[in-house]
Amino acid sequence: MGKVYENRRKPKREGKKITVGKVEAVPAGRGATVKLKSGGEVALFNVNGKFYAIENFCPHKGYQLADSRLYGNIVECDLHGWRFDVTSGECFTKKGCSIESYEVFVEDGWIKILV
Ligand code: FES
Repeated sequence: MGKVYENRRKPKREGKKITVGKVEAVPAGRGATVKLKSGGEVALFNVNGKFYAIENFCPHKGYQLADSRLYGNIVECDLHGWRFDVTSGECFTKKGCSIESYEVFVEDGWIKILV
């Protein structure tokens, strides 16, 4: 395997709850890219009405996971098929390649992520 890339779009942990959009914006079974002011990106997923957020960067070659296909709570990277649990960031394809996950809240119909 080649180099595992450093994620330059990994959000810095700020301990801040940010509002990212209305719940209707992300239908069940879909993902969305959330661009943060800090330059970081988070991949937000709707798994049967519950929202989860992980880094938007596959550690294999850096593809955006928000654009990849979701199977239940598993996102499969569209580029070469690495698989991640969107609820925890755990990588099922390669040990030691798990990614960050972020707490998501829904308040008054708004999705908020703790970054
Ligand atoms: S970039 Fe290769 S599996 Fe994601």
